[in-house]
Amino acid sequence: MFDPKNLILDNPNEGVFRVHRSAMTSLEVLRMEQERIFNKCWLYLCHESEVENPGDYRRRNVAGRPLFFIRGSDGKLRVFLNTCTHRGALICRHDQGHADVLQCFYHAWSFNNQGDLVGVPDEAGYPSSFNRAAMGLKPPPRVESYRGFVFVSFNPDVEGLVTYLAGAREYLDLIVDQAERGMRIIPGSNRYSIKANWELLVENSLDGYHVRPTHKTYFEYVNSLGINTSGVQTAFSRPALVLGNGHAVEEHDGIRGRPIARWSPLFGEENKEEIAAIRAGLVRKFGEQKARHMADISRNLLVYPNLLIIDSIDITVRIFWPLAPDLMDVTAWQLAPREEKPELLARRLDNFLTFHGPGGFATPDDVEAIESCQAGYKAEGVEWSELSRGMHREAIAEDELQLRAFWRQWFGHLSGLGTVETNDP
Ligand code: FES
Ligand code: FE
Repeated sequence: MFDPKNLILDNPNEGVFRVHRSAMTSLEVLRMEQERIFNKCWLYLCHESEVENPGDYRRRNVAGRPLFFIRGSDGKLRVFLNTCTHRGALICRHDQGHADVLQCFYHAWSFNNQGDLVGVPDEAGYPSSFNRAAMGLKPPPRVESYRGFVFVSFNPDVEGLVTYLAGAREYLDLIVDQAERGMRIIPGSNRYSIKANWELLVENSLDGYHVRPTHKTYFEYVNSLGINTSGVQTAFSRPALVLGNGHAVEEHDGIRGRPIARWSPLFGEENKEEIAAIRAGLVRKFGEQKARHMADISRNLLVYPNLLIIDSIDITVRIFWPLAPDLMDVTAWQLAPREEKPELLARRLDNFLTFHGPGGFATPDDVEAIESCQAGYKAEGVEWSELSRGMHREAIAEDELQLRAFWRQWFGHLSGLGTVETNDP
């Protein structure tokens, strides 16, 4: 049996921070993560906009558990464990759809879109103790949402979501407030798997250090369009930010434009005015400084343990689940302001596909890099990964402070210490 206390070396006085590579290779560690992280924390499920109309539903696996969410005829979004209260069959058998009533295909028990059991064939066959009202679909122990983002927890005693989010809340606000009339998830998603441990994608997503070497091809391509990318040399020199409870954000200067609200030649002259107007609106509403933070800075926000929001040209919402120590399942959606004009939405979706998509400019490089780490672990003999960059100074986005924040919280959970200080001392 592994003692998780031996998986991390964290000695700030000596500038040592190392993660034992068995954290990324061991099935026993993955089982501990399931029990001590995924069964204990808040986990992202969906965005409220994914089921706009009464009866709309979608199913989704969260930490290996089948769930579905549905908007009831009363307008309320509810989340249910996707299992029939009769003898267990999956109730929701399509990834998405619309239903007033969901009928179990096994023995035809029927549930309305508020989860009540409304039909039992031959109900008279049950003894008088049978209580139909108590046999409705069951929700997970906790469901809460923050500004449209719906989270579940399988831990009835988990702290409130807002407390859990800690400093990540301010960054969720910064993203959601970019929209005048609220954000929505654009229908459709990217789905792919990566042959690597899930923590490697956490690391990669918060890591400004890899961008120049790993994504070289992308910068060459953008340069070939006549667009100056020399800013990338200094883009990652902003301070590193740790947000508490394992959450962290890696912010860097926007190298290219953003539909909100920074024009670049990539958007075309025809959209210049529109983007300037959006920016002026942000300044009016939030002041120059905050508007600049929204519009000129890009960010990768990790909501611990595994929700990643990449707020750059597009806003990619990405979740990833471990299936094995060396395999994860990734789903990504695009978040956009409800009021966004079709031309700007098209640019956003183009970036979502051609940059962040599984066949885009960025993701295949990142997948190659982390699959390569996973393959390298097979060499064994090198026990530790090194993550001390920036420990001796005010860490910047190119350092590894955000990664240490994740790993410190991970260590707190696995070792049973609970919430720990995740910043460098
Ligand atoms: Fe659903 Fe029997 S298992 S009706
Ligand atoms: Fe990358």
